[in-house]
Amino acid sequence: MQNPAYACDPGAPSLKEAFAGRLKIGAAINSWNLDPATPACSAILRQFNILTLENESKPIMVQPEEGRFVFDKVDRFVDFGEKNGITLRGHTLVWHGQCPRWFFCEEDGSPASKEKLLERMRTHIRTLVGRYKGRVDRWDVVNEVLTDEGGMRNSLWYQIAGEDFIAEAFRAAHEADPAARLVINDYNLESHDAKADAMFALVKRLLEAGVPVGGVGMQMHLGPATDLEKLKANAEKLASLRQFSPDLKLEATELDVSAFRFEDPSETLEWTDEREAAFRAFYTELFRFYLKLADEGKLDAVIFWGLHDGVSWLNGFPRRRRNVPLLIGRDLVLKPAFYDVIGTAKG
Ligand code: GLA
Repeated sequence: MQNPAYACDPGAPSLKEAFAGRLKIGAAINSWNLDPATPACSAILRQFNILTLENESKPIMVQPEEGRFVFDKVDRFVDFGEKNGITLRGHTLVWHGQCPRWFFCEEDGSPASKEKLLERMRTHIRTLVGRYKGRVDRWDVVNEVLTDEGGMRNSLWYQIAGEDFIAEAFRAAHEADPAARLVINDYNLESHDAKADAMFALVKRLLEAGVPVGGVGMQMHLGPATDLEKLKANAEKLASLRQFSPDLKLEATELDVSAFRFEDPSETLEWTDEREAAFRAFYTELFRFYLKLADEGKLDAVIFWGLHDGVSWLNGFPRRRRNVPLLIGRDLVLKPAFYDVIGTAKG
């Protein structure tokens, strides 16, 4: 049994150091974690070299009302990243969630025209991406546009603008920062073959039309039902999009490994030795696979969705229950699986 060690300890093993030169390792954080005197901030600096803002750069936060942009938290994040040599991900420009209603309405409340919606989208993208040009390395341009069955999600974006909003969003982001990597991001790509096939077909179509897609984000919200063999096959399938654009990369953008099957309310968190062993074995095999992809040039970043177990969204969704999905536990304690994952980097 190791002595408890904390992710913020100056001498703690470090994920970013273990994987340096092969894979960037990151977390989704919030601007209030960036106060230099805090353990959270020390943990971020010790462990991670790529960061995403969990919520504060989403449309509802950045442009709550048309034309009223709020940048202070994103500014803080970008200044912090730049000062500390951390790669930054912008998240997310176009999504059906956390997007204010006004995007989709005329003044009288009727549905906005396609032209108006696309113009608002372009303004949002130009303003945000343009402000951080050269400083935010990559953007999740569109998030979750597919259904698990492989169709287009019937969001307000889609209802009003059809599939065109996707290409237009990428074009606007590229104009605003031609050097940024532009990512299409979605969940269940590892588990739903039809969805992975649809993503493959969509990105192929976009690339063939000259749309500057630079990455596919596999969110990787995983759990006890995740089939690792299927995950590997679907990741390889999406990595094979590189035949159409050799610079395209995969990223694991929102990794966590829930203790529960998603919607199953009957499950309780009885953490037996068997479950602990399975959790550790799962993370070990997952990171061995990530390293294989990284060494082949297919994947360049893995981002955990949350700094530690205590702040994971999975404690509140789909319902309130204590969850333990990350490598860093409550109070920033390094879990045994953390050491296993560090071990995968050694061979
Ligand atoms: C999706 C979004 C994230 C986050 C998670 C849950 O995966 O991309 O921004 O909202 O849901 O917290």
